[in-house]
Amino acid sequence: MADLFDQLNDDNRQRQIIAEGAVCLPGFALNEAHELLDALTPIVEQAPYRYLQTPGGHTMSVAMTNCGHLGWVSDRKGYRYQALDPRSGQAWPAMPEVFLNLAQRAASEAGYRRFQPQACLINQYRPGSKMSLHQDKDENNRAAPIVSVSLGMSATFLFGGLRREDSCQKLILQHGDVVVWGGASRFCFHGVQTVKDREHSLLGRQRINITFRQIY
Ligand code: SIN
Ligand code: FE2
Repeated sequence: MADLFDQLNDDNRQRQIIAEGAVCLPGFALNEAHELLDALTPIVEQAPYRYLQTPGGHTMSVAMTNCGHLGWVSDRKGYRYQALDPRSGQAWPAMPEVFLNLAQRAASEAGYRRFQPQACLINQYRPGSKMSLHQDKDENNRAAPIVSVSLGMSATFLFGGLRREDSCQKLILQHGDVVVWGGASRFCFHGVQTVKDREHSLLGRQRINITFRQIY
């Protein structure tokens, strides 16, 4: 019953322009959610979620892994994209067709054609995980957008401006929601508030966020 209620609510939520070049597409990934999760299982078997160190020596509260030609990593030496998973020394798992297809359709829906992401960062949030305000600027391609798909527990996404001190909009991202930001918004600060303990019917006590990035 709760599921049906959520679903009806999702259907009622409107596509929302967040800022110039940034749009929220509520429920855009709902139809593929099961397929996305099925495709995720072998990825996390091959490249398990891990808690990365920041260059400053802190351990992130969000666990991460990647698929695609390149994966985002962080350690004492800094942030970067690399072709090999540092944990296994092997290439990252391939990006599943269902991932790529969804990312390209969402980008196109937001007005970004020919999106060709080489990297897909998969974040696993547990109750208490958060992501501090930051800009995504490790990608060489500055024209391509970021496509972000949220699954599982809902979370409050903060979307600010080009300066850290700019005020932030708060968006509740639910299971199946997609956010795309590029153009004038490509380097906007963003983050995720501490995730509350609200169990999700499909994913339990976790939120999974998948971001697609075109590096070159
Ligand atoms: C990110 O900025 O990489 C993640 C955003 C999110 O989890 O919604
Ligand atoms: Fe980010």
